[in-house]
Amino acid sequence: MKKEILIIVFLLYSLMIHQDKPLFTKFYYQIKEIQKPDSFDVLVNKNNCLSPTYIPKDLEIVNTKVAYDQKFLRHEAKEAFEKLSLDALELGYHIVCVSAYRDYDYQKDLYQYYVDSKGLEYADQCSARPGHSEHQTGLSLDVMGSNMDYNLFLHSVEYDWMHKNAHKYGFILRYPKGKEHITGFKFEPWHYRYVGKKLSTYLYENHLTLEEYKK
Ligand code: DAL
Ligand code: ZN
Repeated sequence: MKKEILIIVFLLYSLMIHQDKPLFTKFYYQIKEIQKPDSFDVLVNKNNCLSPTYIPKDLEIVNTKVAYDQKFLRHEAKEAFEKLSLDALELGYHIVCVSAYRDYDYQKDLYQYYVDSKGLEYADQCSARPGHSEHQTGLSLDVMGSNMDYNLFLHSVEYDWMHKNAHKYGFILRYPKGKEHITGFKFEPWHYRYVGKKLSTYLYENHLTLEEYKK
């Protein structure tokens, strides 16, 4: 009897992870290297990685009026973010870019810092392993609001504005609450990703993550 139960459990488990559309995602498993890293809808996550040598060709510095220090984004994402932030400023909202493009080695050190200081399990919930961070695409950025701490962005007045309006400029909230089992990361109120206006509007209106769209 015990043996039969074990066999059933094994079969159910196999069904869940080995079918084309698994019931749950096993992270950092059967990792694929991304073939079209320049696409605006590129999916970079725990199961799809960028080459260590991938550097976007059209990185540009973000206007320092809307970025803390020197930050780089790809041309189209930079233009869109500057417009978003300047439009928001006219309404009294301060949305500042605090992190944007990060190269492979920078992400490697950042991830290692979390592993060393907080342990592997915690690190994997909030920091991508090198090659697996979409900050390497030059299409992602972290923002802070007028309470001046990206960690507290959720409690800023800007969070709500950003949540309701970012898609109009081509950005999506990349790691939303309640989708952690799909994205593989904890809710990150501050992390936005440029995908272009058409796709961002579609994802926003249908409450979809990039993982669900690309499946
Ligand atoms: N914090 C996000 C998941 C990253 O490290 O890319
Ligand atoms: Zn981020």
